[in-house]
Parts: sequence; structure tokens; C-alpha cells
Amino acid sequence: MPALESLFFSRLGHGATVLDLCCGSGHVTKELVARGYRVTGVDLSTALIEQARVALPTAEFVVQDARELHLGLQYDAVLSTFDSLNHILTLDHLRQVFARVRAHLKSEGLFVFDMNSEAAYFADLRQWTATVSANDVGLVRGTYEASTKTARTELLWFQKQDHTGLWSKSESIVEQRCYPQGEILTALLESGFTNVEAISAEDAGVTSDLGFGRIFYSARP
Ligand SMILES: C[S@@+](CC[C@H](N)C(=O)[O-])C[C@H]1O[C@@H](n2cnc3c(N)ncnc32)[C@H](O)[C@@H]1O
Repeated sequence: MPALESLFFSRLGHGATVLDLCCGSGHVTKELVARGYRVTGVDLSTALIEQARVALPTAEFVVQDARELHLGLQYDAVLSTFDSLNHILTLDHLRQVFARVRAHLKSEGLFVFDMNSEAAYFADLRQWTATVSANDVGLVRGTYEASTKTARTELLWFQKQDHTGLWSKSESIVEQRCYPQGEILTALLESGFTNVEAISAEDAGVTSDLGFGRIFYSARP
């Protein structure tokens, strides 16, 4: 939020139209709605969009792939938070996302997003980290392959079933790709963006661990 305050909220007029790209279940969308913006959230996951619709009935949500974004509207701003664009696994696809974002921005529009740098993936995440409550146990660990710049996050979770008291197990692997800062800036310029800037989360005011190795980018059409 401190980074968004300086890089995003302070540059938008009241009531601006904002596209929250890769909005997930709407954590950040909620903040945007609370600040009076007119918000559309887009995510590839139908399940997460369903959760977002329940949590935020006044916002509009659409299931779409960022690489094929086609909303037929132009917004004052597009925001994509919490390293969502590291989920785009090839540079060609990242360029495709940038081109689709540009097509959805008004001429004075603003695009802000954050991505993890290699420093974030080099942090030692190989040990399982557990979150435990009475009816849920979650486990997460990560690996990073520097030669392919590919990160894998393994998730395991157990949930106690109300009716039987038995535990069910679920698992998932999420892949991310790390892009050097220069590659991201060049891809933005090649997609027609101007005023392209990169700023570390620390310099943007983030003091928590969540800012470690995170870079914020801003650009204008
Ligand atoms: C780390 S979450 C961030 C969610 C939200 N922006 C936040 O800050 O809480 C990444 C999100 O990107 C979405 N995502 C991944 N690939 C996508 C794609 N190609 N198009 C749209 N959404 C995508 C995932 O479904 C997930 O909800």
C-alpha cells in the first residue's frame, strides 16, 4: 500500500476508472473500491473471480486471460499487483500482455505493476513453511532454477471435513518466470509505452519483508 500510495493513488483523479489485472480474490480491488475508483477486476481463475464477486458486489469482475485481454473499453489506469505478471511464463507472452494493456488505456492513462527480481527468488524458500489452525493446515515451499529463470511454488493443504472429522489433502504447483529489469523496460518500450520507470519496493516506501526483491514499474501510453 505505501508503494501504491506514491506510484498510483497520488497520480489518479477521484472516481477514475481502474482495471485491476490479475485481481485474484480481490484483496487489492477492495482497496480500490474503498477509495472511490470505478473498478473492473480481471483474472484467469473462475474460482477466484467467484470469491471476488461475493466479497465486492459493487465492482465488476470478468474471467479473462491477460494475454488475450479484450474488454472493449479504455481505462484511466491499469494496476497489476503482487508479482502477478511473473505468472506469465514467456517474454513473448509478457509483451502480448503489455500490448493488450496499452490498448485498454486512455491516452493519458497510467500502468503500474510489480514483479519479483531474481533477489526475491534467490531467498532461501526451500524449507516448508506451515500455517496451522484448528481446521486447516497449509504448507508452502519454493525452488528457483536460475538457468531457466523459473520458480516453482509447491502448496499442500489439509482441511478437516465438518461431517466426518477426516482431513482432506489438496496440492498445487504454481510456476513463475523471473525477467531481468532491462528486459521488462525494453518490452514496455517495444509495446509503445513511454515514461517507463522502475523503482524498488524499498525506494517506493515498502518496509515489510514483502518488498524484498520486488520492483514496481510505471508507464504511460
Ligand atoms: C499472486 S496472485 C495476485 C492477486 C492480486 N493481484 C493480489 O495482489 O492479491 C496472481 C494472480 O494472477 C492470476 N493470473 C495468472 N496468470 C494469469 C493470466 N494469464 N491472466 C489473468 N490472470 C492470471 C492468478 O489467477 C492469480 O489470481
